Amino acid sequence: MKSLVIVIILVNALAKTSSLQKEEISLNQRSCHSENVDVSPYLSTRTPYRVIHEQNKAKIIRHHLPDQCVARQIWMLVRHGTRNPSASVIKNSLKSLSLLREKIVVAHQNGKGLLCATEVNRLQNWAMNITEIDEKLLVPEGERELKNLGSRTLTKYFGLLNYDSDDLENSEINLKFRYTDTERTYNSAQHFAIGLLDSNDTSQVQFTKSPLKHDPLLRFYQSCLKWKTEVKDNPDGGKHQSVAFKNGTEYEVLKATVTRRLGLQDYNLSTLDVDMMYKTCTFESSWSDDASPWCAAFSEEDLQVLEYSSELKYYWTDGYGYELNYKQACPLVQDMLEHFKNASRATPQPKGVFYFTHSGTMLKVLAHLGLYRDKEPLWHHNFDHHKSSRLWRVGRIDSFAANLAAVLYSCDSTPKVMFLHQERPVAINGCPSEEPFLCPLETLEKLFPYCNFEQICRLPERTGQQSR
Ligand SMILES: *[C@@H]1O[C@H](CO)[C@@H](O)[C@H](O)[C@H]1NC(C)=O
Ligand SMILES: *[C@@H]1O[C@H](CO)[C@@H](O)[C@H](O)[C@H]1NC(C)=O
Ligand SMILES: *[C@@H]1O[C@H](CO)[C@@H](O)[C@H](O)[C@H]1NC(C)=O
Ligand SMILES: *[C@@H]1O[C@H](CO)[C@@H](O)[C@H](O)[C@H]1NC(C)=O
Ligand SMILES: *[C@@H]1O[C@H](CO)[C@@H](O)[C@H](O)[C@H]1NC(C)=O
Repeated sequence: MKSLVIVIILVNALAKTSSLQKEEISLNQRSCHSENVDVSPYLSTRTPYRVIHEQNKAKIIRHHLPDQCVARQIWMLVRHGTRNPSASVIKNSLKSLSLLREKIVVAHQNGKGLLCATEVNRLQNWAMNITEIDEKLLVPEGERELKNLGSRTLTKYFGLLNYDSDDLENSEINLKFRYTDTERTYNSAQHFAIGLLDSNDTSQVQFTKSPLKHDPLLRFYQSCLKWKTEVKDNPDGGKHQSVAFKNGTEYEVLKATVTRRLGLQDYNLSTLDVDMMYKTCTFESSWSDDASPWCAAFSEEDLQVLEYSSELKYYWTDGYGYELNYKQACPLVQDMLEHFKNASRATPQPKGVFYFTHSGTMLKVLAHLGLYRDKEPLWHHNFDHHKSSRLWRVGRIDSFAANLAAVLYSCDSTPKVMFLHQERPVAINGCPSEEPFLCPLETLEKLFPYCNFEQICRLPERTGQQSR
């Protein structure tokens, strides 16, 4: 009995050595694993809109409206398009990835690691062609996304938005554009307008820049002291679950497999290294259809883990993690309802209201409306439960150029609203649940009553505070 066990162990050990040898001997004929990995579902908030649009095209989208409904106004919230990374990601990427790349190349030359020659070559030729001064700028892909979205909006609501070039004066009051105090939202607004007007001349449109750095409407959370203190900047708040996940088993396994794949057994791969490889992989893959050479560091399972760690951060700082995250989005929802109330009266009103803003705004508004809420919260310890099917997936709901439209219709003179997220009709809890989910304005006013932002965001008085 004993000897049999020993024999089996020996045979196993021999098989292992020979398979490792095989892997190393066939270095040059080795297949390139990354050729079979589609990274596009795992790009998190760096998902370019073309990925979403492809999914939409694959599904038949029909929303038959009753004949007696006429569009009166469109109110739309749009996240800026595909952009460059932040200065800190550019800096760290240039620094730590250049170093890491040298190590990977040397490891490969010594027959270590599992990358194929092409994958290593692509890394060798990799150069990040931007510097810190280019941080967060909209890239050409972003311009295309917004222009195309504008074109499709015009086509879909042609009856409402049809632009009369002989009537320049009226067009000014008919469309309202507002963007935050950033290049990427300004440029996004410009390109959306080019598509919407079907003209490169957008001089007729009045673009309103945020009055303040902290726009109380488009970036309300920057004025929410309670949220900043209790969630965003609190180590036990918004970031906690993501940090704990990065300290857990899934991440440990991920680091070990990436180390083995890159042949970096002599190097202690840090969480920052992994983070930079993932961020660079996702940003570079968003800019064009060529996946970034850095994506070759990961398998599909690795990407699922990385995506989830990113997901946790957004769930807890902008989503359902804390009620305060989405409760504070009321000023924007109130703004929409007020526009619709005004427009359902007979006075002249804008035909379209277009706001160009950021991820943090989009997610909080989606959660305020009750969309994409999973029964089970996303925790650092329930990745298995959420791995394959979860509603909260920022790569789908908060891509670059993510968009939420609310369209006011007059149906037999009853004002009703249709919501479209990523250009597809969505049902709001408490509203009719049959497509196209037209919801009476009256119902919406009851569902989303007036709220007091100041009160929601006020920090509780500190007890025992001494007057001085
Ligand atoms: C950088 O390279 C990418 C693709 O490799 C290209 O799409 C982009 O236009 C380049 N950017 C600049 C500023 O040259
Ligand atoms: C707008 O400008 C682009 C690029 O300069 C050009 O390709 C396009 O034909 C122009 N479109 C119109 C409608 O003038
Ligand atoms: C990381 O995990 C270890 C052991 O599982 C634990 O002791 C430690 O407190 C964790 N650190 C953080 C920052 O979560
Ligand atoms: C690797 O890094 C971790 C965390 O920084 C550290 O605890 C560990 O001792 C390091 N291991 C080696 C072999 O350097
Ligand atoms: C709605 O109309 C009122 C009264 O004319 C006006 O004060 C208010 O600014 C309008 N609201 C919006 C969002 O346009």
